[in-house]
Amino acid sequence: MKIAILGGTGKEGAGLGYRWAVAGHHIIIGSRVAERAEAKAAELTALLPGFGEPLQGMGNVAAAQAADLVILSVPYEAQKATLEEVKPALVGKLLISVVVPLKPPKLSQVWLPEAGSAAAEAQQLLGEQTRVAAAFQNVSAEHLLDLNHAIACDVLICGDKAADREIAAQLAQDAGMRGIHAGPLVNAGIVEGLTAVLISINIRHKIKHAGIRITGITD
Ligand SMILES: NC(=O)c1ccc[n+]([C@@H]2O[C@H](COP(=O)([O-])OP(=O)(O)OC[C@H]3O[C@@H](n4cnc5c(N)ncnc54)[C@H](OP(=O)(O)O)[C@@H]3O)[C@@H](O)[C@H]2O)c1
Repeated sequence: MKIAILGGTGKEGAGLGYRWAVAGHHIIIGSRVAERAEAKAAELTALLPGFGEPLQGMGNVAAAQAADLVILSVPYEAQKATLEEVKPALVGKLLISVVVPLKPPKLSQVWLPEAGSAAAEAQQLLGEQTRVAAAFQNVSAEHLLDLNHAIACDVLICGDKAADREIAAQLAQDAGMRGIHAGPLVNAGIVEGLTAVLISINIRHKIKHAGIRITGITD
């Protein structure tokens, strides 16, 4: 799949993009500044000798236009401006949001926007012509660039269409994790809020990669 990652110059987007490139996807790193995206794509490509050119860099709008699937990986404060800019390029596409609405400096306290979640707010802004799903909010960027490090957590996926959640589940698997269907987009606030809980756990245990695992699934 051709996947654009808006804000893919950051730790989370770059880490996920790197793992998806290894799995065979074509990744377009997006940035407000095309040169920054190109530099990040080159940096990640250099880590993958023998893989050809699985990553390229573009401005956010060009990246969204060129892709089949778009990932939103910017800080919550940047979500509205980023989406307003790329909105026409997202028509008919699926946007998967990894955004966590945190309110600095209290990152360990749950804070959710009026819409109920960052993902629901994105859906409101984009309208019915774009489908929004939420996933990867609870996956720390810490070890994503280290392929020898298993990412020992599950990915909770919220979205109104099962087929869209399935696409995210496949991406979770491609990045070395298990994707779990966690219900409609209205559930995304709980999943986004869990990240503040994980940050609290990280602080308490002096780590950077606490994650969650769902038990009881046998199929
Ligand atoms: N880091 C983690 O461990 C982690 C884990 C789970 C979820 N998340 C969530 O994933 C998203 C990305 O996380 P991250 O750590 O990669 O974030 P980040 O490094 O702070 O930002 C990602 C990219 O967003 C763009 N950006 C930053 N500020 C912006 C602004 N004011 N306006 C427009 N664009 C801006 C930047 O790209 P350009 O300057 O190149 O445009 C930046 O490289 C966040 O919502 C975060 O809460 C992060």
